[in-house]
Amino acid sequence: MNILILGSGGREHSLAWAIKQNPKCDRLICAPGNAGMDEIADCADIDILNGGAVVEFCAENAIDYVVIGPEAPLAAGMADRLRAAGVKCFGPSREAARLEASKTFTKQVCDAANVPTAGWARFGDAASAAAHIREQGAPIVVKADGLAAGKGVVVAMTEAEALAAIDDMFAGAYGEAGAEVVIEEFMQGEEASLFVLANGEHCMAIGSAQDHKRVGEGDTGPNTGGMGAYSPAPVLTPEIEARVMAEIVRPTLAAMARRGTPYQGVLYAGLMILDGRARLVEYNVRFGDPECQVLCMRLGAQVLDLLLACSDDRLHETRAAFADDHAITVVMAARGYPGTYRKGSAIRGLDDLPSSSHQEVFHAGTTLSDGQVLATGGRVLNVTTRAASLREARDLAYGMVDAIDWPDGFCRRDIGWRAL
Ligand code: AMP
Ligand code: GLY
Repeated sequence: MNILILGSGGREHSLAWAIKQNPKCDRLICAPGNAGMDEIADCADIDILNGGAVVEFCAENAIDYVVIGPEAPLAAGMADRLRAAGVKCFGPSREAARLEASKTFTKQVCDAANVPTAGWARFGDAASAAAHIREQGAPIVVKADGLAAGKGVVVAMTEAEALAAIDDMFAGAYGEAGAEVVIEEFMQGEEASLFVLANGEHCMAIGSAQDHKRVGEGDTGPNTGGMGAYSPAPVLTPEIEARVMAEIVRPTLAAMARRGTPYQGVLYAGLMILDGRARLVEYNVRFGDPECQVLCMRLGAQVLDLLLACSDDRLHETRAAFADDHAITVVMAARGYPGTYRKGSAIRGLDDLPSSSHQEVFHAGTTLSDGQVLATGGRVLNVTTRAASLREARDLAYGMVDAIDWPDGFCRRDIGWRAL
């Protein structure tokens, strides 16, 4: 079949890498793609937020299946557009994507489904939000309601911080996303994520992961999109995972189906685990980045079969084969990220690195120029490995990192510390 992947991050490169290994895949096209995807697929320069352009591209290129990577096209209704045009695709409808696009919506669904999560309240003006914060005290969590590229959340340890966040949000720091804010109870515990394929009420967990959101070693410094991840997450034991499915995921899927907006795609449940109990932090309606990289490394070619089983509503008759192994990904970012950084620096040494079912460098912000790989983004490379133990996988990954010649790049040296 001819497959189109929308997106250009490490997430989409790892999906392309796994899908390409499956004999069902004839032609693979990535839009817009990056230097790494360009090596294993054709890259097409289409606007992935433009439903008309994507539908037209699918017709012209006899595309049989579209995998939608990022949240923005999903929240804009790309899956609806494709399905209406008769193109099979992987990803939730615009209505179902509200589980990520609106924090208020998610909280309402959770309440309707009795899902354990932080207590919350919603505010449309600064004065009542501030009064609520003074009443509740700190620590407390302030969130812009809408999509803010992962930046609209302030975990305030003091009342002053929380009040400053309210001022920022209502002053328009996050644009439309901050027109309403959700204020949540602060939850303590260890975070982990569970990834579930879902179609209506049929669902299947395909792995857990933990990421490192802070830029600095020891989980310090400003938040980023994620500086590394590993799978499985030891804190998410089989017992806790079973409870997450029974108490959080299945009731949510049932509530979504009941309200006439069934969920279809991957549901990313961000969890807070304390004393053997998990509560929901948030949902995302896509694979995590960089969590997808470690899941794809562990699942390999079967990723395509699993995504197709999800889209075709065959999850109940499908099994995922999990090796008893560990995967890790170390993100290499441009010096300065998540603040300002330089674009266009050259990366050398990638061609000499081994590439196998156990080790691969997934690209994010890269481009090819005269045969040379150049950095074009904040997060640039994802050095990803798999081994019998997390320690072995980590050593393998840092060995590869050390062989990459990129003076303008940096990475955290402690990915996986919590699990090790
Ligand atoms: P979100 O975008 O909702 O996932 O929030 C980003 C990060 O903020 C999460 O990964 C958590 O680390 C933290 N966070 C969000 N909500 C809470 C909460 N209610 N209690 C504690 N930490 C939270
Ligand atoms: N790594 C966190 C996310 O993809 O949202």
